[in-house]
Amino acid sequence: MTVTVLSEVAAGAEDLSVWPASTQRLPHGGLAVGGVSLAEVADRFETPAYVLDEGEVRGRCRTYQDAFPAADVLYAAKAFLSRAMVRWVREEGLGLDVCSAGELELAVTAGFPPERIVLHGNAKSPRDLEAALRLGVGRIVIDGPSEIARIAAAVGPEGHQKVMVRVVPGVSAGGHDKIRTGTDDQKFGLSLTDGGAQHAISRILGQPQLELTGLHCHIGSQITEVKPYLVALRRMVGLMARIRDTHGVVLSELDMGGGHGIAYRPGEPALDLTALARRLRAELHRGCAAARLTIPRLLIEPGRAVVGPAGVAVYRVLAVKHTGEKVFVAVDGGMSDNPRPALYGVRYAPRLIGRASTAGCRTATVVGRHCEAGDVLAADVELPGDIHPGDLLAVPVAGAYQLSMASGYNLVGRPAVVAVHQGSARLLVRRETLDDFRSRDIGD
Ligand code: LLP
Repeated sequence: MTVTVLSEVAAGAEDLSVWPASTQRLPHGGLAVGGVSLAEVADRFETPAYVLDEGEVRGRCRTYQDAFPAADVLYAAKAFLSRAMVRWVREEGLGLDVCSAGELELAVTAGFPPERIVLHGNAKSPRDLEAALRLGVGRIVIDGPSEIARIAAAVGPEGHQKVMVRVVPGVSAGGHDKIRTGTDDQKFGLSLTDGGAQHAISRILGQPQLELTGLHCHIGSQITEVKPYLVALRRMVGLMARIRDTHGVVLSELDMGGGHGIAYRPGEPALDLTALARRLRAELHRGCAAARLTIPRLLIEPGRAVVGPAGVAVYRVLAVKHTGEKVFVAVDGGMSDNPRPALYGVRYAPRLIGRASTAGCRTATVVGRHCEAGDVLAADVELPGDIHPGDLLAVPVAGAYQLSMASGYNLVGRPAVVAVHQGSARLLVRRETLDDFRSRDIGD
């Protein structure tokens, strides 16, 4: 596929800062990602389509490896998982964070080494634990007191399993109430303040078949500042020192979770990874020196920041409606492939692709095709005034927590996932069809 790229001047000064680094302007209002025209992707694979820039994913994995050379970087599979994603992450040398038997089995059957996988979950099912032990996951993160005896029994007296404990450090951070997990008023982890974590740790240390390798915390998601991580780290190091003093046990690992925030629209803040790495390391060294503690190995679990900016959602406009003062631009997807605006009030910056428009911009609301008024993808955005059915709209920063949270609402079917890389496009996950729905629906 050959693409003719336009110069910056010819294309105007439109801000593509939140798009994949490979994004190029094409003549006639087109955009190419990974060397492939998005309009051609839409023609070839139909819409809605989620386009993943393989080079951007790999580049982001490398950015993490470079920023955290002495840490284990585990990709959080919940952000997006497919067999290709598993391969890219493995080849880039990252580990994996999973939270269900489904994610775990997909990763292992796609060739991911189980010892590099950590299993999370506030309510692990018998199937989750059975799969974890059968496949030999590297660590199971204990999230509540009742898991200790369950895991110990499942491992058996002759068995051995490495575990960590999820601690709630009492730090509030994150882009929305629903994704703040660092304080005691939510369902995850064991509390530092009420002694729940300390009590669980004593019990785990009393189980010979469980090897407690370290502590874990995940304070929230879409965090754009370093400070909450430093406060959490200080408290975690404090707990490690108390464990050493009380039990004579020096834990060798400290997992600080993920949550690294990204910009969804130009000008929005993102977490500075280099600053995070530098200041976490400095705080870890300082805290450990003060407590005379051996420095544990650091683990981190980014999801969104690895895959979010590598994804672009491409929709076709089905209808344009002028209602009073408002313009509604309805596309062929919506809340079934992206529930994030409805759930967290996230704002996106869609853009017309595939043709140039000389019409002036006007304020419009991009809505989906689902049967409820809350099915809004992007409220009050500037789009060309002549936008019409058949046009293509692309939404950048669509790689994380969109498809992985997609639903079967209205039996619209989940979109295809297409990888683009070095000028070629290939299908990773096919579109969900009526046959898929019919084949699961076996009663009458
Ligand atoms: N580690 C643990 C234990 C987690 O629970 C999560 C995310 C991560 C790592 C990765 O966090 P990230 O780096 O991706 O922020 N659906 C929401 C996000 C929920 C995050 C859940 N846990 C959204 O669309 O914003």
